[in-house]
Amino acid sequence: MAETSEAKGPRHVAVIMDGNGRWAQMRGRPRLFGHHAGAKRVREVVEACPALGVKYLTVFAFSTENWKRTQTEVAGLMKLFRRYIEKEQRALVEAGVRVRFIGDRVKLEDKLVALMDELELLTAGNDLIHLTIAINYGGRNEVTRAAKRMAFEVQAGRLRPEDVDAETLARFLDTHVLPDPDLVIRTSGEARISNFLLWQSAYSEYEFVETLWPDFTAEEFGKIVKSYAARDRRFGAVRV
Ligand code: IPE
Ligand code: IPE
Ligand code: MG
Repeated sequence: MAETSEAKGPRHVAVIMDGNGRWAQMRGRPRLFGHHAGAKRVREVVEACPALGVKYLTVFAFSTENWKRTQTEVAGLMKLFRRYIEKEQRALVEAGVRVRFIGDRVKLEDKLVALMDELELLTAGNDLIHLTIAINYGGRNEVTRAAKRMAFEVQAGRLRPEDVDAETLARFLDTHVLPDPDLVIRTSGEARISNFLLWQSAYSEYEFVETLWPDFTAEEFGKIVKSYAARDRRFGAVRV
């Protein structure tokens, strides 16, 4: 079985980029300073992927719960996302990175959504690395939206309730074109998943590291990715 093949690196790595606020606070700076420093780290990790055999990288940038933060922080983050897309657009296109966004776009400002759509379109022909950025993403929100769309399909007579299985539901998720993550990394020492890829990470390996996201390097990423090969993924079966 392909799933139990040994000494194989992860094809899809997902990262919960946490610790920006604490990183800034430790320096006596506002939280947004940490978010800017954190955003700069993404490129290094993306660039490290091809040599490590990582084809899919998914990063958690903003959760459906992050709206609870101050208006200053939320507005600053939205502006950062816009500026990040504008600034990185060309480099991403040229580096062969295919960018996708997951999450609920309804609550996002039009200007940002337009930039997201544009970047997805501009990189649609790329295939070297598939970078997925989760903005206003929450696993429960995603599954709920999928269930709602599925219900409409049933109502319209295009889907029979008796045909609904796990694969059907997965087709309605934002991640429908992506493989499930093999490895999920969370920085900043918190050992929780905070509503990230709930459905997709059912059998993912987890790695929780103490490093705050703005201090996370390609080197540390490489070490974690390489240590993954030593793990024994059984998917509920017994190893023979
Ligand atoms: C992660 O860093 C980035 C976002 C959630 C947007 P945090 O802002 O959560 O940083 P800490 O956890 O407060 O240090
Ligand atoms: C998770 O981090 C979301 C992102 C990294 C975007 P949070 O900092 O929001 O998670 P909690 O509040 O510690 O669970
Ligand atoms: Mg946090």
